[in-house]
Amino acid sequence: MTEKFVRAISASEVTSGGMKAIELDGNEIVICNCGGKYYAIQRRCGHMNAPLEKGTLDGTYLTCPMHCVQFDVTNGEALSGPVPPDFGQEIPSPMFGEYLQNIGMLMKDVRTESIRTYATKLESGWVLIAL
Ligand code: FES
Repeated sequence: MTEKFVRAISASEVTSGGMKAIELDGNEIVICNCGGKYYAIQRRCGHMNAPLEKGTLDGTYLTCPMHCVQFDVTNGEALSGPVPPDFGQEIPSPMFGEYLQNIGMLMKDVRTESIRTYATKLESGWVLIAL
């Protein structure tokens, strides 16, 4: 099957180090500008579906805003597991502590999957994505 590239955004819409979420033919996609090279990944985190464009992009590593799983946007590989919240020295109220314990127990059974990536290319100032 040959890849069909479609226009996604103007390259100027995402500055270097930035991300932009779009929807294309029913696919939720995040376009990442990594120093002038564009990558496209599925928008939803491979852990618990958080919107990845709300995370942080450092080079080609994207950190999810919810539980800090890191992904390599060049291939979608999940590089780490989720990180539980850290309250430092602060002791949460007993009710909140119990809630966190329950969340922690549930999260143990949630697998983290790598995410889908899409081939990209630049053409006449446009970022094209293969669907
Ligand atoms: S939803 Fe992304 S790390 Fe949990």
